[in-house]
Amino acid sequence: MTFARIAGTGSYLPDNIVTNRDLEERVDTSDQWIRDRTGIEQRHIALPGQSTVDLAEQAALRAIEAAGIDATDIDLIIFATTTPDKVFPSCACILQARLGIQGCPAFDIQAVCSGFVYALATAEKFIRTGTSKKALVIGAEVFSRILNWSDRTTCVLFGDGAGAVVLEANEEAGILSTHLHADGRYEKLLHVPCGVANDFDAVKAGQAFVEMKGNEVFKVAVNTLGQIVDETLEANQMQKSDIDWLVPHQANLRIIIATARKLNMSMDQVVMTVNRHGNTSAASIPLALDEAVRDGRIKRGEVVLLEAFGGGFTWGSALLRY
Ligand code: COA
Repeated sequence: MTFARIAGTGSYLPDNIVTNRDLEERVDTSDQWIRDRTGIEQRHIALPGQSTVDLAEQAALRAIEAAGIDATDIDLIIFATTTPDKVFPSCACILQARLGIQGCPAFDIQAVCSGFVYALATAEKFIRTGTSKKALVIGAEVFSRILNWSDRTTCVLFGDGAGAVVLEANEEAGILSTHLHADGRYEKLLHVPCGVANDFDAVKAGQAFVEMKGNEVFKVAVNTLGQIVDETLEANQMQKSDIDWLVPHQANLRIIIATARKLNMSMDQVVMTVNRHGNTSAASIPLALDEAVRDGRIKRGEVVLLEAFGGGFTWGSALLRY
């Protein structure tokens, strides 16, 4: 059997840090409120002119180096983002050219905060079926560009960044299963209500902003993530105690704690970046994964659960032996 194994990880955060105290100057909020309700202390925000692909390129180069391969070895690029550089071509194609790769399939995936798990699951199918041998999978966002910086209910929550992994065909270890879901009935609880084909005037006026009913999103997220944990364990006939690491989407500390409790996991087994990164949407899982791989917490052979929830609603998980 051929598995898709993570051969290398990489990530990149823009230098510019915005603290909760900085936000106190902009909107009616407080450092205490943001910490208590979300666990967020600061976030990285791209400078004007820094694009999603700019961030992704750095993350991709680091993942390629960690995998010990040449960029030209890559035969598939899947790029998860909600904040693409252009309407077209895709970020994947723009990145492909920057990396000096030609000919391999390259495309974007849009599943908001679940985007990286969707991209990873898709790449895994290409590898398992023998269509690809080395895939570059990216989650990258400049979410700050779709935030209304006068809306305290959303602007305090998000940040910018990029993460990447190189997946390669391997006979021994790798992704054990992936689980993807969506329910479009929840569209209006978390969305940007305009786009190219709908109210384009708002886009042109620079008013394509995230709108969210935070409280309702919170409740559905906690329930849904609990269910996907059960689904993933059952599919692999594993017990909670078989999981070494949880690398969750980093939206809110309280949601992460609820999932860790469901798994009877100590918070020492949970990779946490939400305090320093905020919610970087599709970038949050590969950013956290890269951090824990590079600092030596996640070791080869350990069992890692990735899980995400986002606009759509979309949600998903991936269980892997690192
Ligand atoms: N600073 C201070 N007060 C704020 C605030 C801020 N940044 N944002 C909202 N408030 C106020 C609200 O206006 C409300 O005031 P009111 O009681 O006078 O009406 C009060 O705080 C409570 O708001 P509520 O929305 O009920 O808070 P909450 O405990 O649900 O926390 C979130 C808000 C957004 C942090 C929380 O709902 C959440 O994290 N939801 C999930 C969001 C998410 O993960 N989205 C992405 C999914 S990928």
